[in-house]
Amino acid sequence: MGLELVRPCADLRDAWLEAHREWGPGLHEDGFGIGETDEVDSPDGFAAWLDALVRDPGEFWWIVEDGSVLGGIALRAPEDPSVVRNGHVGYGVRPSARGRGIASWALARVVDHARRAGIAPVTAVCLDHNAASVATLEHAGFTLVRRERHGVVPVRRYELG
Ligand SMILES: CC(C)(COP(=O)(O)OP(=O)(O)OC[C@H]1O[C@@H](n2cnc3c(N)ncnc32)[C@H](O)[C@@H]1OP(=O)(O)O)[C@@H](O)C(=O)NCCC(=O)NCCS
Repeated sequence: MGLELVRPCADLRDAWLEAHREWGPGLHEDGFGIGETDEVDSPDGFAAWLDALVRDPGEFWWIVEDGSVLGGIALRAPEDPSVVRNGHVGYGVRPSARGRGIASWALARVVDHARRAGIAPVTAVCLDHNAASVATLEHAGFTLVRRERHGVVPVRRYELG
């Protein structure tokens, strides 16, 4: 696989938008750092979103293969208050690229990066019924710490080293 982790950049706007269209409407593009108020379809909106990512204390990468954006992965900064609820890592792979080991590949690299940055343990939270994400985390060596509820939503909290 010619996979790369690439920092979000304007050069890949067309490729990113093509992936974004495949995800379809709704706030479900995990790992890209898109917030409810971000408007990413217009050139100005996209540029403002990229600017916000650069200023975010966390780190973001796009998973790229041959110029196509296949997914995104984020590492929240340790001091980010949302880590307590959402964990350090979040990721998503576009529907047409799933089941090829892409999330596992990206997560392994970001876990290495987190270790080098001194983040320990690395935490992750996923929906209890998200079998693909549970398998991705367990494949990467994460251990289930506990099941919890975010409001009425059952989630699993994982840690690694
Ligand atoms: C979760 C997600 C990122 C997995 O991406 P992926 O590239 O398809 O995952 P991989 O191919 O690396 O597979 C990782 C593991 O998940 C398993 N898996 C993949 N899809 C699965 C599915 N639909 N059901 C059960 N297990 C699944 C694989 O068999 C593999 O397990 P293994 O290593 O034990 O064989 C992807 O399904 C996705 O983007 N989902 C929507 C966003 C999301 O849920 N993000 C996580 C938020 S916590």
